[in-house]
Amino acid sequence: MFLMLKFVLIDTFVTKMYVYFQLILLLFIVVIDLQIQAYLNQLHQTYQRTVQLKHFGLSVENRNLTAIKISTGGNNRRPLIFIDAGIHAREWLGPAQAIYIIKQLVENSRLLKRVDWLIVPLLNPDGYEYCHVVDRLWRKNRSKGQGCRGVDLNRNFDFQWSQHSKFDHECSNTFAGQYPFSEPESLALSKILLEYAHRTKIYISLHSAAQSILYPWGYTTEVPNNGKELHRLAAKFSDAIYQVNFTEYKVGSAANILYLVSGTSRDWAYGVANIRLSYTVELKGVQSHILERRFQIPPEQIFSAVSEMFEGIKQLHSYIEGRYGY
Ligand SMILES: *[C@@H]1O[C@H](CO)[C@@H](O)[C@H](O)[C@H]1NC(C)=O
Ligand SMILES: *[C@@H]1O[C@H](CO)[C@@H](O)[C@H](O)[C@H]1NC(C)=O
Ligand SMILES: *[C@@H]1O[C@H](CO)[C@@H](O)[C@H](O)[C@H]1NC(C)=O
Ligand SMILES: [Zn+2]
Repeated sequence: MFLMLKFVLIDTFVTKMYVYFQLILLLFIVVIDLQIQAYLNQLHQTYQRTVQLKHFGLSVENRNLTAIKISTGGNNRRPLIFIDAGIHAREWLGPAQAIYIIKQLVENSRLLKRVDWLIVPLLNPDGYEYCHVVDRLWRKNRSKGQGCRGVDLNRNFDFQWSQHSKFDHECSNTFAGQYPFSEPESLALSKILLEYAHRTKIYISLHSAAQSILYPWGYTTEVPNNGKELHRLAAKFSDAIYQVNFTEYKVGSAANILYLVSGTSRDWAYGVANIRLSYTVELKGVQSHILERRFQIPPEQIFSAVSEMFEGIKQLHSYIEGRYGY
């Protein structure tokens, strides 16, 4: 009897602590998520003429999916550069890179003269929060499965879906989902991409940490018919980064220099939205034979990584401005 009571007491204590823990966790989560949102809102306030925010959907856990549109005019006829980041939760350098680009753009109107920009700094806010507070190496979204949670959003796009992950179990890190666009985040991104596809000249999806610039295809080792242009521009991009501090970015088609992969946003943007310059940019990583460690770039290296990358982004901009600037 006494033992029982003791057990119950301990049990309620544990339950209480668990509830507190959950509460603290929840607070923490809300705070982190709101930092990026707050920054975007602040930019909107400061640069009302050029900055527009588009809340284009909700994550599974009801966080806003937000794009920032930066434009100085042109009546929605200018060519557009579309960038997203944070599809894979643990690749933290992506959102940092996106925020850096946004900051440079709003402060430098030269890059806004004849080209518009649309940037989604955090496509998978649930996963991002989760890996900040619970599991640093979480990659997928947080949707509930039978036993495991999460879909790899970058395998979930409706183009050649699940060609190379047919046998992936829902617990796998690259689970493609039950069906194409089963996830609200990937579906919402596809919709906003389609909305702007007619004037999007370049699509870039920021990932880490394979330090490379990848163009289609991922689902086959073949290269699309404008492969030469894709390669030439990627090489320019890579050279511009190298000039800053000798950081080498590999260039090639995803299947040829990384691995065969299907259902990615890059292949979908090219194959369905018909955006002819479509890239996955794998940002800088840490040299390590342990895959997981490569994502964990030390904070003191972030600035040099994102600023050298921006020199590459400027090359893309000048290519688009020269060819299509309006
Ligand atoms: C989320 O989006 C809604 C509109 O869809 C907006 O009213 C709200 O302010 C947004 N929240 C934040 C934190 O920006
Ligand atoms: C995460 O994946 C599940 C499928 O397992 C999906 O239903 C859910 O909408 C996804 N959540 C997000 C935020 O994408
Ligand atoms: C160049 O790279 C080195 C080594 O990664 C780093 O310590 C240095 O800060 C970088 N310099 C610049 C200008 O980014
Ligand atoms: Zn990734």
